[in-house]
Amino acid sequence: MSFLSATLDRVKPSATIAVTTKAGELKAAGRDVIGLGAGEPDFDTPENIKQAGIRAIEAGKTKYTPADGIPELKQAICAKLKRDNGLDYSPKQISVGTGGKQILYNALMATLNPGDEVIIPAPYWVSYPDMVLLAGGEPVAVETSIDTAFKLTPEKLEAAITPKTKWFIFNSPSNPTGAGYTHAELKALTDVLMKHPHVWVMTDDMYEHLVYDDFEFCTPAQVEPGLYDRTLTCNGVSKAYAMTGWRIGYAAGPEKLINAMRKIQSQSTSNPCSISQWAAVEALNGPQDFIPENNVMFQRRRDLVVKMLNEAEGIECPVPEGAFYVYPSVQGCIGKTSAGGASIDSDEAFATALLEEKGVAVVFGAAFGLSPYFRVSYATSDEALTEACTRIQDFCAGLK
Ligand SMILES: Cc1ncc(COP(=O)(O)O)c(C=O)c1O
Repeated sequence: MSFLSATLDRVKPSATIAVTTKAGELKAAGRDVIGLGAGEPDFDTPENIKQAGIRAIEAGKTKYTPADGIPELKQAICAKLKRDNGLDYSPKQISVGTGGKQILYNALMATLNPGDEVIIPAPYWVSYPDMVLLAGGEPVAVETSIDTAFKLTPEKLEAAITPKTKWFIFNSPSNPTGAGYTHAELKALTDVLMKHPHVWVMTDDMYEHLVYDDFEFCTPAQVEPGLYDRTLTCNGVSKAYAMTGWRIGYAAGPEKLINAMRKIQSQSTSNPCSISQWAAVEALNGPQDFIPENNVMFQRRRDLVVKMLNEAEGIECPVPEGAFYVYPSVQGCIGKTSAGGASIDSDEAFATALLEEKGVAVVFGAAFGLSPYFRVSYATSDEALTEACTRIQDFCAGLK
């Protein structure tokens, strides 16, 4: 009998982490590598937030806290949901976890039984299908296409729903495409969901604040109040507040579900880091003005990358509404051979040859469930982005 759990055979390790590791190895071996794989802002946590963490340590706020969050943070989250999303929640409806990742995982663990299906629009954030599998459910990937700007259509959602569907996972702006749904586009999806009362909505609003060109973020329970009682609104401080290492995520939803999630957390990790929770209170209650300032920079980088990638032969790069990713197609490169002799028969082959021959690390589309594409994270300096895109252009020009 195997020592390792059979459940492990159902999941694969994160491809984004694999790319970062490979790029790191090449760098350590002395190669000049530009990493466009990372999913985190390239700037530091704002000073007021860091100071709140330091004050928490000095004040001895270093002990266990309630398993799913301190009342002050739950209060700050309720205020944030009212302020930004027009949603009314009480602290009893809030769960705080160790990153957005743990929140999503708790929710799936708390609700999935064998055979339960979870609809996940593809391309998707790498962890959704594997989390569903770990929790014993069945991920149902529904492919979108570049023609609909990687957004799920109501027809496709309708066709994917079965009596076994438990959750619909929604993520806007999206990792890996940056696609953000307008109010009308989201309403078309919530109209479908209103016809299927057994389907719950898990909305991952992690990139809510990273939006450009006057795009207005909206979230399912806000667009369709009729879904309030079966929606789990998930969010966190990792991306907008450059707090990826602090590990604080949260969710708002029906009390029964929140209680079930707390039960799981209390028997696994217990409370998220006490110091990080106090820093998150400051992040949510403190000044928010650096967010639009950072967005000016992100938008400039997005425009730079989209322009340069569209100038590369064989690449087509749509302009996304948010997050810090673009998801260009390499359809025009498939079937060719690189200058270094690699046969480009897939997006994985494209990304591997690009890393080996030009030292640019991107994540291939198959990892996100839609080929032939790759993901670029533009959360890095303008100089690095310009150099990386120039190398991608050279790589493409060398394809025969
Ligand atoms: C769409 C999406 N959801 C959730 C997360 C997890 O965030 P956290 O670092 O807070 O666990 C990420 C991180 O990459 C993400 O891209």
